[in-house]
Amino acid sequence: MPRLEGKVALVTGAAGGIGRAAAELFAEEGARVYAADVAEGAPFESAGITAVRLDVTDEADWRETVDRIVAAEGRIDVLFNNAGLVGSYEPVDTIPLADWHRVIDVNLNGVFYGARTVVPVMKAAGRGSIINTSSIWGIAGAAGVAAYTASKGAVRLLTKNLALSYVGDGIRANSLHPGIIDTPLIAAQDAGVTAGVVAQTPMGRLGTAREIAYGALFLASDESSYMTGGELVIDGGYTTP
Ligand SMILES: NC(=O)c1ccc[n+]([C@@H]2O[C@H](COP(=O)([O-])OP(=O)(O)OC[C@H]3O[C@@H](n4cnc5c(N)ncnc54)[C@H](O)[C@@H]3O)[C@@H](O)[C@H]2O)c1
Repeated sequence: MPRLEGKVALVTGAAGGIGRAAAELFAEEGARVYAADVAEGAPFESAGITAVRLDVTDEADWRETVDRIVAAEGRIDVLFNNAGLVGSYEPVDTIPLADWHRVIDVNLNGVFYGARTVVPVMKAAGRGSIINTSSIWGIAGAAGVAAYTASKGAVRLLTKNLALSYVGDGIRANSLHPGIIDTPLIAAQDAGVTAGVVAQTPMGRLGTAREIAYGALFLASDESSYMTGGELVIDGGYTTP
């Protein structure tokens, strides 16, 4: 049986690398997927994917999107809060304030708005799985990237808060921690930064978006039914030493 047979999933950042791979994989595994992004991406290959425009920093956008899905499907079983950006590589004394606020708004507030809007729908159904994309830099420190590491660390703990707050409602929440993954986000960054992280990765290579999507698939499916508040680290060994 397909691993997400009959489930309804909302994936954010789905025009990009990891979100796109997850949307395709979820659909291959039987889910009806709403692939949300602020940007327009290439058409999806799998049947069962509906592209929707959603700015995760806009609560009104969230309400409209969630209302639309609930009207069509009656529920949302899986929320993959994955949209994110690095935004700035600066430490606290040099990061422009606008960059700080933008990164926190997308990476942290976006996850907050997503959970805030979808939790009532999951509560009503008595079940649901929330997956929040953090990072290796939500576990280990890194120089520079002040706003990114702050946002991803906060996502890790907000996920544990969701897990504990809604365990009685049948809602599970787990964070996903990718290492350095070959996506448009990484393709756009300074090659020296990427080479430096790969050099610190015991497997010595970039991961693929599909390798992260398989982790999200596990958390989305009932195979992870005893997992909440957990951290799924898929990083080629980066955080191991
Ligand atoms: N690629 C990596 O090495 C890596 C490592 C750790 C964590 N992550 C995290 O994984 C997630 C996905 O990253 P990716 O590498 O696939 O990046 P990506 O840039 O390929 O995709 C991110 C997507 O998010 C979308 N997005 C940005 N702001 C948005 C907004 N306000 N509303 C809706 N969508 C928005 C973008 O349009 C883009 O399509 C991010 O949260 C990122 O921080 C990535």
